[in-house]
Amino acid sequence: MHFTVLTLFPNLFDSYLADSIIKRALDKNLIKIDFLNIRDFSQDKHKKVDDNPYGGGAGMLMTCQPLFDAIKEAKKKNKGKVIYLSPKGKTFTQSKAERMSKDKELILLCGRYEGIDQRVIDKLVDEEISIGKYVLTGGELPAMILIDTISRLLPNVLGNEYSHEEESFSKILNRKKEYPHYTKPEIYEGLKAPEVLLSGHHKKIKEWRKKTLL
Ligand SMILES: C[S@@+](CC[C@H](N)C(=O)[O-])C[C@H]1O[C@@H](n2cnc3c(N)ncnc32)[C@H](O)[C@@H]1O
Repeated sequence: MHFTVLTLFPNLFDSYLADSIIKRALDKNLIKIDFLNIRDFSQDKHKKVDDNPYGGGAGMLMTCQPLFDAIKEAKKKNKGKVIYLSPKGKTFTQSKAERMSKDKELILLCGRYEGIDQRVIDKLVDEEISIGKYVLTGGELPAMILIDTISRLLPNVLGNEYSHEEESFSKILNRKKEYPHYTKPEIYEGLKAPEVLLSGHHKKIKEWRKKTLL
């Protein structure tokens, strides 16, 4: 999967991408992530990327020119859909992630300030996606959430290729929830792990897990 992220703050992604599963996926070329800094595309002599909204109102809006040019540049190397992370978009879900994981390429546009000029959305954005009904300061965390959720669904990204199939919301098992998990030690501060899980009786374990889906 090839992600191209358009952002004013590419450094915000550094620490998350420098560790664990996503780092390994990058190292093994299972995913590729390019960043374009929207400010680099500003033709303003002070590299301004925002302005007051027409009609008044609080805050600033990201202007058309740097966004049009940055998206056009991204499209030269990435033929995927342009996704604008937006609180008023359609809510991101596990089944949406499963569908998106079938794409080969995606362009993720991160807004800032009060958002972006509507003409960018009308002309160049294919889809608006929200990560939930709350407002963040920017689209970088939402973009990272999409990258993480989609990447772990790709073949060979997780240690055990099929482990995501047993997880909450998995469409494959038509599962909305997950059963409780326990690991060693058997007893911790007087709290015992369920006997059945230690029994080695696979049928009983399966039944118990079905019964205890949370
Ligand atoms: C402060 S928000 C803009 C909020 C906008 N004025 C509104 O009321 O809907 C700045 C940027 O953060 C991102 N953002 C904030 N909350 C988000 C969410 N729940 N899902 C996806 N993106 C979000 C978007 O890219 C947005 O352009």
